Amino acid sequence: MKMAKLHLIQILFLLKSSDSFITQLSRECKSSSLDLESTVVSNDPGGKEQKTILVLGGTGFVGSRFISLAVDSDYKIVSVSRRGRVDEKSPNYTKNVLWIRGDATDNQFLSDVFKNYGPFTACVHAIGLLLDADSGLSGLNRYASGSGSNPGEKATYDQITRATAVAAIENFEKSSSCVSKVCPFVFISAAEAGWTFKAFPEFLERYLVAKRAVENRLLNSSKSVRPVIFRPSLIWTWKRPQALLSVIPFAIGSKFLSFIDRPVLVDDLAQAMLAAIEYDDVYGVQRYFNIDKLALNRQRINKMS
Ligand SMILES: NC(=O)c1ccc[n+]([C@@H]2O[C@H](COP(=O)([O-])OP(=O)(O)OC[C@H]3O[C@@H](n4cnc5c(N)ncnc54)[C@H](OP(=O)(O)O)[C@@H]3O)[C@@H](O)[C@H]2O)c1
Repeated sequence: MKMAKLHLIQILFLLKSSDSFITQLSRECKSSSLDLESTVVSNDPGGKEQKTILVLGGTGFVGSRFISLAVDSDYKIVSVSRRGRVDEKSPNYTKNVLWIRGDATDNQFLSDVFKNYGPFTACVHAIGLLLDADSGLSGLNRYASGSGSNPGEKATYDQITRATAVAAIENFEKSSSCVSKVCPFVFISAAEAGWTFKAFPEFLERYLVAKRAVENRLLNSSKSVRPVIFRPSLIWTWKRPQALLSVIPFAIGSKFLSFIDRPVLVDDLAQAMLAAIEYDDVYGVQRYFNIDKLALNRQRINKMS
């Protein structure tokens, strides 16, 4: 029974990366190189006084979708990632963002971002990688990543997930980094972080150890921070119909197996992230049903206003 469960986990893990793999292969055929020269790639955050959200990992599948929704809702965005900005050809590209290029594992760089571009209304951590250097498979990460992110040669889950998030939380805790007395910090964790058994393969367990370390740190942050932890399983979009290859088995699995959560749409997750920032009563771990509810509530409220 235990072996069957482990095999199932492995299969689901492979499925999780398969749609990105197909997308990435087709993207590589038409790829265009990004401007890697300047630190601030574009600076047009819009005129009037707006609320500013710091997005760590703004070039990612989740981060970029969140940014385009937030910009549509009149937020000002400061985005940080090594590529600097989303490809101009991407549907998620928007000029109204300050795109900062840099490595979030560099503590000095990160604290300069908080000092120079803060204070922020909220901070979103959507940095991540599926296959780290110690997995021996990091060369495949750009195929597994929904945005084609290419990890550094020595990038580990501990550095990329735990260390960057903890450094960001510490910076955010400093009163001058946050606009009001209590500011939301949104962390994108993973559904599997809620598992009470050891995951397999070994690198998946290390991925989850890093996620849980951030969750614990965030839940124990100072009173000036309101922790919000999203735990999605597979995140997908109708814009990539090939994702159904992974979504269908996940959706069926979730009906019969209590340790598998239903996949969530990236648009719903982005709506839920904004709702979590806007509604003061959203606190702690948010699973797929919370994501659905938050997204629906925000859409309803916006329709009425
Ligand atoms: N996609 C899913 O199905 C899924 C499911 C559950 C949980 N999650 C979690 O959701 C989060 C976002 O996932 P995603 O699908 O959006 O991944 P993604 O497309 O691979 O994006 C990862 C982001 O992290 C950034 N990044 C990586 N290393 C960095 C560094 N050293 N400094 C600065 N930025 C760095 C990447 O930007 P650059 O490459 O430009 O540096 C990119 O913006 C991750 O934490 C992931 O674990 C995803």
